[in-house]
Amino acid sequence: MGLHVVEHPLVKHKLGLLRSVDTPTNVFRAISKEITRFLMYEVTRDFPLNKKVEKGWAGPVEVDYISGKMATIVPILRAGLGLMEGALDMVPGCKISVVGLYRDEETLEPVEYYVKLAKDISSRVAIILDPMLATGGSLIAAIELLKRNKVKKIYSLNLVCAPEGVQRVLEKFPDVEIYTAALDAGLNEQGYILPGLGDAGDRLFGTK
Ligand code: PRP
Ligand code: URA
Repeated sequence: MGLHVVEHPLVKHKLGLLRSVDTPTNVFRAISKEITRFLMYEVTRDFPLNKKVEKGWAGPVEVDYISGKMATIVPILRAGLGLMEGALDMVPGCKISVVGLYRDEETLEPVEYYVKLAKDISSRVAIILDPMLATGGSLIAAIELLKRNKVKKIYSLNLVCAPEGVQRVLEKFPDVEIYTAALDAGLNEQGYILPGLGDAGDRLFGTK
């Protein structure tokens, strides 16, 4: 419950590639997508299965299936878009609910600028996608929005987290499940995660 750090050699190896400042934008994008697939595998571990009967080669066969109406993924603009394709690789049928937030560079407070949620979001679980969980302000704002819209359950998928942000989020919302590739050492004075990845949005979009 709460925080889940996905400990897997492939995830650790790939995260090491992201940490290098020498990793170019195209590789940073590709690796972010790959790590997202691994984290999605864990996020969806408890998804309930239904049964149905299919026509098999030797007669009727009972098979498992996940209802296509289970989830909505929620990329937080802009950096969360970099995780969207990897998430969709694992749950191709799910709806996408977009939340636009940026962190004010002075106050570090989140500023909301765009929201478009799945219409039936109250009958779905939400999987928030954002590479970085730093002070936790952006995630808290996204969770509050989703809770106001009565989602059934909230998961957050973050490549890297700071302990300060995780603690703040889970103190406020102990029912949220956070899946991450790394719990880093902490935040610097500008609210950047150390050792972190730097500005993940800029690295994904090639804007720095
Ligand atoms: C980054 C990141 C998170 C937020 C995390 O977004 O993608 O959304 O900061 O910081 P917090 O936990 O302290 O709120 P940013 O504001 O840089 O916007 P961008 O995605 O448009 O680059
Ligand atoms: N946003 C980022 O992109 N990186 C950080 O380390 C913190 C917030």
